[in-house]
Amino acid sequence: MKILLTGGSGFIGSNFVRYVLRDRDDIEVVNLDALTYSGNPENLADVENDPRYTFVHGNILDIELCRKLIGECDAVIHMAAESHVDRSIIDARPFVESNVLGTQTLLDAMRKVDPDNAKTFVHVSTDEVFGDLPLDRPELKFSEATPYAPSSPYSASKAGSDMIARAYHHTFGMKVMVTNCSNNFGPYQFPEKVIPLFVTNLIEGKKVPLYGDGRNVRDWLHVEDHNEAVLAVLEKGEPGESYCIGGNNERSNLELTHAILGAMGKDESWIEPVKDRLGHDRRYAIDATKLKTQLGWEPTRSAWPAALESTVKWYVDHAEWWKRVKSGAYRGYYEQQYVNR
Ligand code: NAD
Ligand code: DAU
Repeated sequence: MKILLTGGSGFIGSNFVRYVLRDRDDIEVVNLDALTYSGNPENLADVENDPRYTFVHGNILDIELCRKLIGECDAVIHMAAESHVDRSIIDARPFVESNVLGTQTLLDAMRKVDPDNAKTFVHVSTDEVFGDLPLDRPELKFSEATPYAPSSPYSASKAGSDMIARAYHHTFGMKVMVTNCSNNFGPYQFPEKVIPLFVTNLIEGKKVPLYGDGRNVRDWLHVEDHNEAVLAVLEKGEPGESYCIGGNNERSNLELTHAILGAMGKDESWIEPVKDRLGHDRRYAIDATKLKTQLGWEPTRSAWPAALESTVKWYVDHAEWWKRVKSGAYRGYYEQQYVNR
């Protein structure tokens, strides 16, 4: 099978390429990536000469290019997106362009070159499309039946892209599936996201900026568990269906911060409480029963403390990678302070 992967030079995509090349010798991957601030060819430097991997530098908004590449592949896994909530609060436009228009462009390209709907399209989305959950109702979780209620410009743009993907299945009979997953962690995550930001700040001798009261909860999923689930959906999922992917691993930001501090031998004087993110979602939690019962998937690599500690160690061991990334386009936290003033 030859897969067109969009956004393969980012965090989740680069881990997907490495995972598939390592574990599945029956799969080839073509990576279409625009190399925005978060796309980094260094993320795949170790596999760039693998005969089963091809990189194409281009934008999902380029319909001719998308037609050509989809025509040469058997399936599409669509990960390319603007992905950071804080950036969407500063400027929502690139989010609407890449996430909404980009998804529609890809789907239109696929319609053109696959009129018989032989190919499969997996649209990788987020649990943030469901809005948030209260802290005092731990029994509540998101599932495939939860109504959409996105809160940030990022999640609104992802919700829009999910709706377009579902509509192309309903209207044109295309073999589209949507995945909604929780917070990923692991190697090669851009250091604007909380785990690599906090770990690399501590290595640099800087404090960690904890938003608000630190009680917000996320369901942490190891990136390789996520990618295994995406592949299961591609190979065994039902067209028109959506699948929630979670780590069974809910943690408050305070708990996460203390775990990172502990793994790095630091005390809580390294926490710098800062003003809260605008519209900050309180809690995300996933009920992944459908994936388990229908496709036989459940997370096996996400359990703490081992999974978090190995991720922290990866950043400690790869300072040359994140130092180059951080010295470039990274402005997340400081932009956020500007927005809050
Ligand atoms: P990322 O920001 O690390 O990577 C995004 C990649 O997409 C980059 O390589 C970038 O260059 C590329 N890209 C962006 N716009 C493009 C365009 N117009 N054309 C071509 N390429 C473009 O993001 P990530 O964390 O790896 O997320 C990947 C996908 O997973 C996104 O769709 C995101 O919404 C979704 N997701 C992420 C998480 C998470 O915790 N990181 C959780 C749930 C869902
Ligand atoms: O839930 C899935 C989503 O997870 C994905 O769709 C997004 O692409 C991904 O970025 C992530 O969104 P979050 O906003 O949850 O991730 P982030 O790492 O930005 O923040 C995680 C939590 O940590 C959140 O409650 C905000 C808090 N935080 C974040 C940063 C960057 C801080 O307290 N301080 C910070 O400096």
